[in-house]
Amino acid sequence: MSIDYTERIPNNVNLAEDRRLQRALESWQPAFLHWWGEMGPTLPTHDVYLRTAVAVGREGWANFARVKVPEYRWGIFLAERDPDRQIAFGQHKGEPVWQQVPGEHRSSLQRLIVVQGDTEPASVEQQRRLGLTAPSLYDLRNLFQVNVEEGRHLWAMVYLLHAYFGRAGRDEAEALLLRNSGSEDSPRILGAFNEETPDWLSFFMFTYFTDRDGKYQLGTLKESAFDPLSRTCEFMLKEEAHHMFVGTTGVDRVVERTAALMAEHDTDDVAPFGGIPLAVIQKYLNFHYSVSLDLFGGETSTNVANYFTSGLKGRWQEERRKDDHVLTEAVTTVEQIDGGRIVTAELPALTALNHDLRTAYIADCQTGITRWNRILASNGITGPGLRLPHVGFNRKVGLFAGGHVTPGGTMVDAAAWEAGRPAWLPTPADKAHVESLMRPVYEPGKIAAWLAPPRNGINGQPLDYSYVRF
Ligand SMILES: [Fe+2]
Ligand SMILES: [Fe+2]
Repeated sequence: MSIDYTERIPNNVNLAEDRRLQRALESWQPAFLHWWGEMGPTLPTHDVYLRTAVAVGREGWANFARVKVPEYRWGIFLAERDPDRQIAFGQHKGEPVWQQVPGEHRSSLQRLIVVQGDTEPASVEQQRRLGLTAPSLYDLRNLFQVNVEEGRHLWAMVYLLHAYFGRAGRDEAEALLLRNSGSEDSPRILGAFNEETPDWLSFFMFTYFTDRDGKYQLGTLKESAFDPLSRTCEFMLKEEAHHMFVGTTGVDRVVERTAALMAEHDTDDVAPFGGIPLAVIQKYLNFHYSVSLDLFGGETSTNVANYFTSGLKGRWQEERRKDDHVLTEAVTTVEQIDGGRIVTAELPALTALNHDLRTAYIADCQTGITRWNRILASNGITGPGLRLPHVGFNRKVGLFAGGHVTPGGTMVDAAAWEAGRPAWLPTPADKAHVESLMRPVYEPGKIAAWLAPPRNGINGQPLDYSYVRF
C-alpha cells in the first residue's frame, strides 16, 4: 500500500479504517510535537533539504524537498507484508509468523519495543545543540535528517505500542516522551544514550558506533515472529543506512584532514594547525566503541535465549546462517576474566546470543578502521594507525565490567588503569581542543578547516547547494 499524505498521520497501515487507533495516535501526536519543540534541535532554520519516505518499495522510496523542520511529516511506514513469511528460528520454526501478540509473550515483546523505542528520541536529545556548531550546511542538513528520522523511529515503536499493547502500551508511549537523555530523575534506559554528544567528532563517532548498534538490534527484531515488529524494523533499517553513512564519511573526512595536516607539517601534533590529532581521534573512538559495546548487554543471558527460543528476537541475518536455527546443541567460545587473566570459555550458544550479535557488530566496526587506515596510508602516514580497543576495555556491562583492561587487552590493576586513562580516553584538554574547533560554518559550499569536504552532495545536489536556509 502506498503512503497516504493527506492524512494527519501519514501511514501505510490503513489507519483511517481503525478509528480508535487513529484517535489514540492523534492524541499522542501533539505530545510528540511538543517534545520535538522542547527537546529537538535548538537551531532555528527557515527550511532544510530533507528526504521523506513516500513508499516502502525497493525503488524510489524517498522524496527530497525543502521542508520546514517542525512541519516534517512523521509517519508510520511498515515494509510490505510477505503473506508466506514463516518463523525462521526457535521452537516455532516453520510456523506462520504472528499478526497479533501471543498472550504469553506480551510483556517481553512490549519491553523489547520500549527499550528500542527509548533510544530513538534519546539521540535527538543528545544531538540537539549540534546545529549551533555545524561545520557546513551539508553536515547541518545531515544532522537534521538523522534527527527527523530518529523521531520517525519513535513513531514506529509508538505505533506498535498503541496498536498491539492496549492501555499498557499507551502508557509506555507517553513515558517515552517523559524520560530524557542525561536526566537525573528520569534518564533514558540505556547508558550510552545518557552520554553527551557535545561536538561533531562525537556526533560522527556516535553515528558510526552507536547508530550501528541500533542497526544490529533492529536486525534481530526484523527476524521477529511478531510480523508487525519485523516489518517496521525492516523499513527503519532502510533509513538507518544513511545514519551509518554520516558516521563513516564523517570520520573519513576528519581523518583525511588530520592526515593532510600531518603530512604538510611533518608532525603528529596537528592541533596548532587547527586539526584533530590522530591520538585524540583514537581516544574518541575508544570511548564511543566501548560504550556502544555495553549496549549489547551481558555476553550471556537466559532472557535472550528465551527470546530466541520463543521466536521474539532472532540473530543477525538469521536466514543466512547455516545451522539448525534452534541451537539447543550448539556451543560457542566467549572471552572472560578469570583470576586476573583473560581466558576463553566454551558456553552454550543459546545463552551467548548477545555475544554472537556483538561479534557481528565488531567485524562491521573493523571495516571502518580498515577504511580510515587506508586514508592515512594514501596520505603517506605510516605507523600503527587507528584500531579498535580490546573488547574488555572500559566496559560497564557484562563479563568485563569492573575489570581493568587496557586497549591492547592486558589486565592491569586499578592504579595502572587510572594512570593510563589520559592516554586512552578523551581528557578535559582533548575535549577543550575539539570544542575550540566547533565554530559554525553556514555559508553554502564552505567547510570548517578541521575536516575535509565531502566527496559528493546530497541527492545529486552540488556541494554549494543551500541545504539549509535561515
Ligand atoms: Fe533509529
Ligand atoms: Fe539512527
